[in-house]
Amino acid sequence: MDKLTVRDFDPAGKRVFVRVDFNVPLADGKVVDDSRIRASIPTIAYLLDRGAIVILASHLGRPGGKVNDTYRLRPVGLRLSELLRRPVRVTGDALGAGTLDALARLKPGQAILLENLRFHAAEEANDPAFAKALASYADVYVNDAFGTAHRAHASTVGIAKLLPAYAGLLMEREIAALSQLLESPAKPFAAVIGGAKVSDKLRVLENLMSRVDTFVVGGGMANTFFVAMGYTVGKSLLERDRVEDAARILALAEEKGVRFLLPTDVVVAKEVTRGAEHKLVPASKIPNSWSVVDAGPASMAAFTEALQDARTVLWNGPLGVFEVPTFGDGTRVMARFLARRADEGVTVVVGGGDSVAAIEQLKLGSKMTHISTGGGASLEFLEGIELPGIAALMDRPA
Ligand code: 3PG
Repeated sequence: MDKLTVRDFDPAGKRVFVRVDFNVPLADGKVVDDSRIRASIPTIAYLLDRGAIVILASHLGRPGGKVNDTYRLRPVGLRLSELLRRPVRVTGDALGAGTLDALARLKPGQAILLENLRFHAAEEANDPAFAKALASYADVYVNDAFGTAHRAHASTVGIAKLLPAYAGLLMEREIAALSQLLESPAKPFAAVIGGAKVSDKLRVLENLMSRVDTFVVGGGMANTFFVAMGYTVGKSLLERDRVEDAARILALAEEKGVRFLLPTDVVVAKEVTRGAEHKLVPASKIPNSWSVVDAGPASMAAFTEALQDARTVLWNGPLGVFEVPTFGDGTRVMARFLARRADEGVTVVVGGGDSVAAIEQLKLGSKMTHISTGGGASLEFLEGIELPGIAALMDRPA
């Protein structure tokens, strides 16, 4: 999957349409987590410093093809301007005379951000006319939106057929880090998989089965494995229709000689809320009317022991209900342990979503080898699916 990148053309004086993923959380009109914006700065700065005119485009939220003021990109534009240390205006719309006028006035070394692409239903429909309108703004297309690479939309796929299409530096980094896991991980390779639902992670577990030496599985999804092993799980989150799949995964791991670790002790709570009554029990003795909310200390000791010799670790998904601080011990122990291992030279890749939030809370982000900006996109990549936004970019000639 060797794609041409921004380094493969001369940006000077060119109009470059850069698809970024600025789908970031907002609260009270401010960006709460700017990691996706920061992650695209190298590409944007690279192009501006070399005299390109940069036309940035992103979606924000799911406004459903209609203008919705909640999803305007203004707060993102403000944060972006701070990070770039130059002003970036947000247009009133992705299309229209006002936008064309603003684009015409841009000079080399200047950037503009188009208003939320998803205010037009044509974006998600990958409408050819919409893609053509966007393509008319530029000479070259760059996709730096790894987080949206699993969507075949006008700004990720349609436009890439109309302009020379290159990967941005973030896109390049993401592809390199995640492909290395699938193609040539330093061994032993371990995957720590958590999160609420086993259904979200089944295909990842299957695709990694022939690649990893060890699986460590925690979070709500472990409950479905517990039931497959004959345990009861009280009031815990359980996907009953996935118990057979969980049993199949356990059998497959056994057949392939892959170590498969689940929690042996768990924290259970009366309610999954802050301040709720909770206690530590063996995973095989989860009481009725209690819910599993975290992995216990014996589990964490076994998990970290099993990961001690790993040269590559992938982590995707928290090991407990970490958003309630009392139930976040397992996730925090894992985050700190993996930060130390990364410091010692182990490749630690954190694939999107809530495990990233946990790491950022602990300010350990800079310790890890790579933190993916993709949630759904990194999962699909690890499932072995070719992402349409990546497939659409130009291949490096052999
Ligand atoms: C994400 O946050 O996962 C991406 O920006 C894609 O957003 P979507 O799931 O709304 O397409």
